[in-house]
Amino acid sequence: MNLKEKYGEWGIILGATEGVGKATAEKIAQGGMNVVLVGRREEKLHELGKEISEKYNVEHLVIKADFSEENAADEIFEKTKDLDMGFMSYVACLHRFGKLQDTEWEWHQKMLNVNINTFLKCFYHYMGIFTKQKRGAVVNYSSLTGVTSSPYNAQYGACKAYIAKLTEAVAYESRGCVDVMAATLGSTITPSWLQNQPGGEEGKKAIAAAMTPEAVADEIFENLGKVRSLVVGERNRKNVHHWHCDLTADEAAEYMGKFYE
Ligand SMILES: NC(=O)c1ccc[n+]([C@@H]2O[C@H](COP(=O)([O-])OP(=O)(O)OC[C@H]3O[C@@H](n4cnc5c(N)ncnc54)[C@H](OP(=O)(O)O)[C@@H]3O)[C@@H](O)[C@H]2O)c1
Repeated sequence: MNLKEKYGEWGIILGATEGVGKATAEKIAQGGMNVVLVGRREEKLHELGKEISEKYNVEHLVIKADFSEENAADEIFEKTKDLDMGFMSYVACLHRFGKLQDTEWEWHQKMLNVNINTFLKCFYHYMGIFTKQKRGAVVNYSSLTGVTSSPYNAQYGACKAYIAKLTEAVAYESRGCVDVMAATLGSTITPSWLQNQPGGEEGKKAIAAAMTPEAVADEIFENLGKVRSLVVGERNRKNVHHWHCDLTADEAAEYMGKFYE
């Protein structure tokens, strides 16, 4: 698909360094768009930008930002204000395992900044631009933990539900003008996901059942503009269907709680 013709010259990936963000950046570059790569590890982002520019013959811009900081988005808006923007994806996330009250308040504040405040600021900003120009696309990433609720990772799950519901509603509001999608992921083999997996047979089983970031991105871009809320992967769709149809909210929370215990 020629994404550049459809959406515009530049796309921004907010959390691009590796995993799903990297796969999303590659996908829009493949579609002819220049990429703005945002994250904390500047050197890695420059390496990725160079790789993408060489492979897909597009331009890239790296912006170093930490979304847990209050005004992280302002510099991003300033640095992209003269670009013809046509795509945005909010990928970065922050979680902290533990009971709500056992997690330091500072972490809650950081999670709110990464998962809600900076997300909302960026979504609001680029939706304003895309709506005015009557073209553009957005993909925001949610999680199955936002479907079930997420004991021992409660704040993260609740934030992911917020991202999904806000994006679904805005996607409806902007249908026919801007292609907006809430993409809900299950286990996906990214460096940060691998860090949280057990070793041995259990870890091997988890990896075998998980998706690759590239397969996730392929499915999303096949459906962008057609589906506003997508649970990515057949296995994940079956699970969501089962939770919605067969389990009470208590049972769904118990399922996820036992998983994290
Ligand atoms: N992986 C899974 O199994 C899974 C499952 C369900 C949902 N999801 C969702 O899918 C999305 C991508 O998952 P992922 O595993 O690829 O995520 P990730 O690796 O944790 O984050 C993606 C990128 O965001 C950047 N980032 C993280 N925190 C940041 C911050 N404070 N400021 C700026 N950039 C930041 C990181 O680069 P830097 O370190 O360079 O900043 C990283 O490359 C997330 O929204 C997640 O909730 C993932």
